[in-house]
Amino acid sequence: MKTTMLLALVRAQVDGDSESFKKVALQIAAQEASAGHSKVATEIRSLIDKVHAQQGQHVGTPKPVIPITRPNGELGTLLQASYPEVKFRDMVFEQQTHLLLKRILKEQQNRQLFSSYGLQPRRKFLLVGPPGCGKTSTAKMLAGELGRPLFVVRLEGLLSRYLGETSAHLSAIFDAMKKTIGVYLFDEFDSIGTFRGDTRDIGEVRRVLSTFLQLIENDDSDSIIVAATNYEQMLDNALFRRFDDVVEFPRPAVGLLAEFLKRRLHFVVNSDTDISWERVAKEAEGLSFADMERASADALKAMLMNGQTLVTEDLLTQAIHERLSVHRRVFSPKKESGDKG
Ligand SMILES: Nc1ncnc2c1ncn2[C@@H]1O[C@H](COP(=O)(O)OP(=O)(O)OP(=O)(O)O)[C@@H](O)[C@H]1O
Ligand SMILES: [Mg+2]
Repeated sequence: MKTTMLLALVRAQVDGDSESFKKVALQIAAQEASAGHSKVATEIRSLIDKVHAQQGQHVGTPKPVIPITRPNGELGTLLQASYPEVKFRDMVFEQQTHLLLKRILKEQQNRQLFSSYGLQPRRKFLLVGPPGCGKTSTAKMLAGELGRPLFVVRLEGLLSRYLGETSAHLSAIFDAMKKTIGVYLFDEFDSIGTFRGDTRDIGEVRRVLSTFLQLIENDDSDSIIVAATNYEQMLDNALFRRFDDVVEFPRPAVGLLAEFLKRRLHFVVNSDTDISWERVAKEAEGLSFADMERASADALKAMLMNGQTLVTEDLLTQAIHERLSVHRRVFSPKKESGDKG
């Protein structure tokens, strides 16, 4: 092989220029063939074919190809597409929820096997719970684990923006589900499950709800449908029947809060004996994961501003008390969390 060819090959690889890479490699194969090294030439060609088949056009680029699925036209304004990277191991769940989600993922991974027996994996879920307790994150995690795009549909926006045309738009979304397999999150689901607005047409909302129920019931796509809501008690009973599972995301228990804190902050403590995660979590009882995320960030910032490299129990407890007092101010005092550990 000529040195110039070797250089061109290396340059193409470094630049990620798959076309040049292929061209030079084929030239080398031709050279080898004409020098009587037909075995080497054949091997080079078959290697190029193999790489092409595996990576589409991206010969020589080590990164996997990420399919870009962006809904266009009107659908583009209704669906927000993303490729979340949230993984199951990044999140903490109560044991029962953990097992259910594991099962959901496992069933999805066995889709092909099931289909030969005429079975479908569970794929229609209603997620219920107060704000900041994991509904959206779980939808992201399902997409992240299964390597599928996540499409978020904001129902409240859909209702107010396209009053009178909502049902038609919902149908378009369900059509898209068949064509592009993904996780479809209907956020603020309560806006059609319970909406009793004064300025909006109640008849329209009822129509939308019944269309939605019908669409869910008839849907036989391979996409995952996730509906998320804050208000379990207000949702129609007829709704629950349409879902394979209703997954509850209540305010996290103390043990779960402790686990969350430990995972977030383990890198700024020397050992678990420096901080009692349980004791700190007990102070935070009643807060959501979203609150805990803020409290953790506040504690970290305070640590940095103090010129420290380790977080202390005092800093963390202080940050948690701040979140609690924000809650007391913003929301009516439903619950006193006065019992100190
Ligand atoms: N189970 C969990 N484990 C770890 N972190 C979590 C978990 N659930 C939520 N979080 C964290 O809390 C934050 C808020 O959660 P999320 O957005 O999923 O709440 P939500 O239930 O969708 O709230 P809302 O009803 O307001 O939409 C997320 O940024 C996420 O990082
Ligand atoms: Mg959410």
